[in-house]
Amino acid sequence: MTTLFFQSDVQDPYSIYQLMLGKNPIYWDEENKIWVIYSYESCIEILKNPDALIPVINLNNEQKLNEHALDILNNLARLSNEIQHTINREIANLLFSNLKSVDINTILYKLIKDDLIENEVDWVNSVCKKLPLLVVLKSFGFTANDCAFILDKIEILVKIMLPNKSKEEVKLINQVSERIFSIVEKQLLLFDFYKPLLNKISELEVLPLDEIKKITISNLIGLLIQSYDAGRGILSNSLLQIIKHKTFSNKATIQKSVIETLRFDPPIHNTRRIANADITLGKTTIKKGEKIMVVLAAANRDLQKFENESNFDIERFNNNENLTFGIGGHMCLAKHFSINLATEVLWFLFNEHKIITLLENNIEYEPLINTRLPKTIWISIK
Ligand code: HEM
Repeated sequence: MTTLFFQSDVQDPYSIYQLMLGKNPIYWDEENKIWVIYSYESCIEILKNPDALIPVINLNNEQKLNEHALDILNNLARLSNEIQHTINREIANLLFSNLKSVDINTILYKLIKDDLIENEVDWVNSVCKKLPLLVVLKSFGFTANDCAFILDKIEILVKIMLPNKSKEEVKLINQVSERIFSIVEKQLLLFDFYKPLLNKISELEVLPLDEIKKITISNLIGLLIQSYDAGRGILSNSLLQIIKHKTFSNKATIQKSVIETLRFDPPIHNTRRIANADITLGKTTIKKGEKIMVVLAAANRDLQKFENESNFDIERFNNNENLTFGIGGHMCLAKHFSINLATEVLWFLFNEHKIITLLENNIEYEPLINTRLPKTIWISIK
């Protein structure tokens, strides 16, 4: 059975999910020693179960990260559990709620204009890899120089999330972490909301101020990291579906298309947990210590939940109940932000240009297991 695969190696992962949903919705993969969960109901049960923890990355700093890289990794809401998670998430949420709104269209217009060659542009490299991160950076007021530096280094920095890193990756992560840490620290000091935020957290939690500062810096960096891959994916995959199904007549239709794309062809396909106690799912017991992969993209194709699950249907009444942003304690805190961003960007593209043509016959995907990200999407714009 194919459970763990690179998205680059599989043309249609959804046919695999369909097979597993029918035969083995809760599957023990003996070869990889991991439970793989496909059904909508069981995915929710796992994601909401407090005994299903986020697996630890870099136990006892076996990867040899330096001080700043280690600070970032150890304080991210996305990777933490229990009380640390509560604190980290609270801080990430406070930061996110202080984002100022920026003019997305101006950013998009410039990105396209800079790279357009005879009406053709690679949507992935020119827009998707830059725009979501730039929007977040500009919403926090980072200078043009800092934006350029972070944009240039983000591909290295996101590797901090990898469970396994090569020596070379560790070296590069260590090199960029200190500078990014200090850029973000400097920026936080300029915010009106920084002191009240620190005060609020010290009222709620018994932690030294230095620790709270570190957590805040790390989680702002975490927001940058999170906006990169998933932000790239939502813009890429939505464009492909909108072109294919010609669902671009107005902004509301674009928004519905983005939401249905998140169900039908999401950028994030799965996420991992580890059982901290025995977990019962129907007749199955997942034992303490066993690994779990929650296949969100399969849950989105579960016909117990979504009728005619293989149809792209923007009018489906429950499209919004897809699991692409996760659910439970670790659910994405940027769900609405991301959907709005993608809607704005794609509406601007289709409203501004009357003919958008896909120039690729065969989309290739990155060699990644948990995300399905097109490598390039060349389009012509007229
Ligand atoms: C600006 C863009 C984004 C930011 C800043 C962001 C931020 C975050 C953060 C901080 C978390 C961790 C929350 C926690 O552990 O308590 C998270 C989780 C998550 N995000 Fe996002 N996110 C963004 C975009 C997206 C997009 C576009 C998707 C999917 C299309 C996505 C999917 C997820 C998922 C699935 C999780 C939960 C992972 C799990 O439960 O294991 N995110 N996000």
